[in-house]
Amino acid sequence: MHSESGAGLTPSVFWEERYSSADRVWSGTANRTFVDVVSPLAPGLALDLGCGEGADVIWMAEHGWQATGIDISSTAVARAREAASARGLADGRATFEAADLATWRSATEYDLITASFLQSPVALPRAEILREVAASVAPGGHLLVIGHAAPPPWSAHRDHHANLPTPEDEVAALALDEGEWMLRLAETRPRESLGPDGTPAVLDDTVVLMRRRG
Ligand SMILES: C[S@@+](CC[C@H](N)C(=O)[O-])C[C@H]1O[C@@H](n2cnc3c(N)ncnc32)[C@H](O)[C@@H]1O
Repeated sequence: MHSESGAGLTPSVFWEERYSSADRVWSGTANRTFVDVVSPLAPGLALDLGCGEGADVIWMAEHGWQATGIDISSTAVARAREAASARGLADGRATFEAADLATWRSATEYDLITASFLQSPVALPRAEILREVAASVAPGGHLLVIGHAAPPPWSAHRDHHANLPTPEDEVAALALDEGEWMLRLAETRPRESLGPDGTPAVLDDTVVLMRRRG
């Protein structure tokens, strides 16, 4: 195992080590903020960037979406596929692909593209990825970006969380054409959560939801 900070590791090695160091890294439950924002949207084709072990993709697949998750870790993707299969969603409703979003490209147009906590202590060209992928949102579709507004109290990477973007920073970094995109949400939302040892905490998420004009 390399250093906790991930210093010197390539993104694929860092995240592969992160996932293979535990039987499961995330809760397996879709994020509350994500569910609250996505629930009112009409289901269609969805893409989740940095899907981890697949909880948000599985939630979408169980709520009428045909959803694909992309993650750089093949271990995370294998777990996501297994979880989708166990829920009977491996019929095309929930699919997963191991790929580096820095170079991954898609010719498909999506009704919803989401990035939840696409944040990393190692190299991640996040703004470039989000701007590039925004071109794959179908007219009338949405781009949803959820992030940490403040570090979770249990984070081992508080230094990497030092300058977390505000919702306004996120909107500015996306730099989407106002003639083509409508800002629907840019705010911070509190969410109750449990730490790895079961300690309750209230976490603040930034939420940015943009709609591509139809
Ligand atoms: C903080 S986790 C968030 C996981 C999940 N979205 C969630 O909300 O629990 C960040 C995820 O991004 C993935 N990731 C980091 N860099 C990536 C890249 N360049 N391409 C694809 N996935 C990446 C990691 O493997 C990890 O699963």
